[in-house]
Amino acid sequence: MVQFSLLASVALLSLVRAQGTDHSLDVKAIEAHFSQSGIVPQLLAQFEPSALLTLNFQGVGSVTPGQLLTKEQVSPTPAVTVTPANASVQLAGTYTLAMVDADVVGSNISQGVTRHWLINGVTINDSSISNTSATAITPYAGPWPAAGSGPHRYVVVLYEQPSSFSAPDGFSEPIGVSVFDFNAYVKNSGLGALVAGTYIQVEEGTATVSLSATSKCR
Ligand SMILES: *[C@@H]1O[C@H](CO)[C@@H](O)[C@H](O)[C@H]1NC(C)=O
Ligand SMILES: *[C@@H]1O[C@H](CO)[C@@H](O)[C@H](O)[C@H]1NC(C)=O
Ligand SMILES: *[C@@H]1O[C@H](CO)[C@@H](O)[C@H](O)[C@H]1NC(C)=O
Ligand SMILES: *[C@@H]1O[C@H](CO)[C@@H](O)[C@H](O)[C@H]1NC(C)=O
Repeated sequence: MVQFSLLASVALLSLVRAQGTDHSLDVKAIEAHFSQSGIVPQLLAQFEPSALLTLNFQGVGSVTPGQLLTKEQVSPTPAVTVTPANASVQLAGTYTLAMVDADVVGSNISQGVTRHWLINGVTINDSSISNTSATAITPYAGPWPAAGSGPHRYVVVLYEQPSSFSAPDGFSEPIGVSVFDFNAYVKNSGLGALVAGTYIQVEEGTATVSLSATSKCR
């Protein structure tokens, strides 16, 4: 059913694009991707974005949700664009951008996820993420999944960062890649709504672990 509705959404996208700036079907499509890939509920309890987030890697271009990429392709810091779902969504103020490794489909990530990118205080300038007044807590560190561990899901999310935001202990100064409790970070720091997100998949070598039925179908 989900696959069918995705196909239907894709077929309708060109129609919607021709009609202007309503991206509600693209928003439904990314919501379906997050459910189908298990990111909801494994990493995020829910995902109801009000904008679309697109990554653009040098030499690759804009990537589609769930696109399988090599670690070489995702090694440079991507440019990030954020497009409101419709004209009534205003993207003003400051945001926090993060990328975490949600591992392979079906894995148990309750013990934490590896943080690959964490920037506080980004702004959105004409749909592009601007970090001119931002603080890089964890500068972008490209995905580097263990060889043979299967296709990891790298999830990139943008949260509203209200003025009451307060970095939790250990996250107010730059810190390298490490495992952390992502949802605790979001909650304890006082981040606001999850505005937009996407994910990519990166695999190194051939999978030697047995994956769930879901991932075999993909
Ligand atoms: C605009 O998009 C938001 C977020 O998807 C949605 O909640 C709202 O209903 C939409 N408004 C209109 C007028 O379509
Ligand atoms: C995931 O691991 C935790 C801790 O090891 C365990 O308590 C939990 O039941 C596991 N969840 C699933 C869905 O297997
Ligand atoms: C916004 O982007 C434009 C075009 O790239 C640039 O000229 C301008 O300085 C930017 N504004 C801010 C506040 O960063
Ligand atoms: C801002 O973005 C540039 C280009 O992506 C990057 O080189 C720089 O480290 C970033 N700065 C911060 C504070 O994130």
